[in-house]
Amino acid sequence: MCGIIGYAGGESDDTVLERLLNGLSNLEYRGYDSAGIAVANAPLAVEKREGELVELERALAADGAAFNGSRGSDDWIGSDAADSFDGPTGIGHTRWSTHGPPSDVNAHPHTSPNGSVAVVHNGIIENYRELREELSADGYEFRSDTDTEVVPHLIDRERSGGADRFAAFRAAIDRLEGSYAIAAVFPGHETIYVARHESPLVLGLGENGNFLASDVPAFIEYTNQVVYLDDGEFAAVSPSSVTVSDESGAVVEKSVETIDWDPEDAGKSGYDHYMRKEITEQPRAIRDCLRGRIEELGGTVSLPELEGLEEPSAVQFVACGTSYHAGLFGERLLQRQGIPAQTFVASEYDADQLPVDEETLVVGVTQSGETADTMRALRGANRAGATTLALTNVVASSAARECDHVLYIRAGPEISVAATKSFASQQVTLSLLATALADTADPSSSASREHLRELRRLPDHIQSVLDDSNARSVVEAFLEADAYFFIGRGYSAPVALEGALKLKEITYRHAEGFPAGELKHGPLALVTEATPVFAIVSGREKTSATIGNVTEVQARGAPVVAVTDSPATVGSHVDYVLEVPETHPAVMPIVANVQLQLVAYWLADALDRPIDKPRNLAKSVTVL
Ligand code: F6R
Repeated sequence: MCGIIGYAGGESDDTVLERLLNGLSNLEYRGYDSAGIAVANAPLAVEKREGELVELERALAADGAAFNGSRGSDDWIGSDAADSFDGPTGIGHTRWSTHGPPSDVNAHPHTSPNGSVAVVHNGIIENYRELREELSADGYEFRSDTDTEVVPHLIDRERSGGADRFAAFRAAIDRLEGSYAIAAVFPGHETIYVARHESPLVLGLGENGNFLASDVPAFIEYTNQVVYLDDGEFAAVSPSSVTVSDESGAVVEKSVETIDWDPEDAGKSGYDHYMRKEITEQPRAIRDCLRGRIEELGGTVSLPELEGLEEPSAVQFVACGTSYHAGLFGERLLQRQGIPAQTFVASEYDADQLPVDEETLVVGVTQSGETADTMRALRGANRAGATTLALTNVVASSAARECDHVLYIRAGPEISVAATKSFASQQVTLSLLATALADTADPSSSASREHLRELRRLPDHIQSVLDDSNARSVVEAFLEADAYFFIGRGYSAPVALEGALKLKEITYRHAEGFPAGELKHGPLALVTEATPVFAIVSGREKTSATIGNVTEVQARGAPVVAVTDSPATVGSHVDYVLEVPETHPAVMPIVANVQLQLVAYWLADALDRPIDKPRNLAKSVTVL
């Protein structure tokens, strides 16, 4: 996930540069490992830097650019020197690395070698390797590791063939497979050309000029009149007009919407909390995670990142907190594929005391890629001779750099301390990993086909839960409970643990999760009419046993909420139902977890807790 912005402007109090930098600072929640801008002077003025936006501002100030600091500080008011960034039109980008580590060279905008065009891109170009080969054969040299750099080269090649700017842009876009929101500027030309396919892009209609951006916060302080582009649409954004067209070039009449937001809430896209925003981002995060990784026809998984990985004799997961729960989920997936697997709380892992050799695959599941306990465990595994794999969200993080292999979960930046979308993306990536490893063990295996089909439907399933969830009203009945219990079996057991962790983290209420069968071995003593029990019941996995556990807690007076894909059979046994769509048993708990995230969120909201920053907790725990 990255953030893009563009502004084609007329007369205004602040400069194009200021508008671009303000926009980028409101988009930093989409990525913050590098940033850059291009102003459409002749020649193009381009500056880009690794690191947070402030590094770009420093570089611009050093270039002599005149602008007020994007955070309202005076620190970065540039000099009076001749200002090469003072033009009417420009584009900007804040990056969340997917191809190539954060660096000045990999930062956007990317330009053609002769500076004939500059491009910013959010998304993933799946066929960039083929395009790179083709362009290299035509003499184009590549400076970065990114997928994006093919785009300016494609545009440049069309321009050399005589196409006008917009035709060249369209022809280049036509060659791309994958997801993109792309904007391009040309030297000395006031119009920005944009295209959208499966990455967000919105246009802002201002009084003195027009904007484009990944999200409304980028320009909300200048205008609340917006036009949302749909997949397959193009736009030409000039200082005085915005024209939208479809793939055939026919002009499309778009409705203009008025956004009713306080600019203060900008980074949260109008949501009260990052956590809620990130919960709603899960369909998008999962689409990004799956992109290009399931082969449509063969129904097999393609993870080129694992090239060279030998078939392991056993797999050990090491992780903390929410990521540990993802590890438990992965362990179950592997075990059912016949691969021995075990999960360890990273702080308890000691490779020297375990059967670990070069045939053991040790997987560090870590959103941040920096958690000290997980890094210690991975380093121990490396020393013991194991093969290590980082399953992480952060490109070039410590885990990514130090492990033998890395699989990115592609969830995009997660700001809220409580992990939500990263857990879903970890579960999905682990599902792909389990299938890939099983395919290695038995290439003829077709057992995974239904699983993969349902993973592809997962974003829609989650969307339907987000649209229809009654979690908020269910929670109203339990504002004053003594404790909250969560139970589930098989694939759902780790989600029961995660449901309890989420609730205790952000509500400060006592919550516990158990494998459903464990209740009667002790925790049942705590169950009363003041302890609601949330039971995850998948219709296709041992429903009757979990219903038996439900009956046990009901006999002690506890109210029961079932999170289930079988309301017809389960509903009559419980007090409340949080429904999820019917799906594969290994996919159902991923959807069920979304209902539990909403339970925790709405309870914390009703209790007026500081949801994004729970007391005593930090997003990345880098101490042992
Ligand atoms: C819970 C949460 C933590 C993290 C844990 C590991 O909401 O966020 O429990 O899951 O600190 O962090 P990573 O995954 O970055 O290693």
